[in-house]
Amino acid sequence: MVAIGSDHGGFALKQEVMEHLKERGIAYEDFGCYEEAACDYPEYAHAVAHAVTEGKCEKGILICGTGIGISIAANKVPGIRAALCHDCFSAKATREHNDANVLAMGGRVVGPGLALEIVDLFLDTPFSEEERHRRRIEKIEEI
Ligand code: RB5
Repeated sequence: MVAIGSDHGGFALKQEVMEHLKERGIAYEDFGCYEEAACDYPEYAHAVAHAVTEGKCEKGILICGTGIGISIAANKVPGIRAALCHDCFSAKATREHNDANVLAMGGRVVGPGLALEIVDLFLDTPFSEEERHRRRIEKIEEI
């Protein structure tokens, strides 16, 4: 199960991503927003982040205008590794190296074509399981 959320700046792209997930047969839960009216991205970031840390969803996808605010907010939740990705290399690398559990994108930054390729790489790429990456990930929580 994939948790998905956006603010108004990411609403249109979120609709495209959900349609794509449906076509791929990937189950998802939409944590809002549910209309294009202006709203506050931390609310959706926190809802998706908690769905992931509580084990209700394996991964999350968050979209705001830039992807920046919503990724900053998600990364405040312990256990969340939200990666802001606007290219395919980063989407693949953050799964392999960081075991990122949330993908963040900016709906005003990327078009749907690129965004859907990023989504596929993020969902389909496994963590490398390499010791050095595991060690570095563990150190992230040592603050
Ligand atoms: C909303 O206008 C915009 O600030 C928000 O979507 C996001 O880009 C914040 O980082």
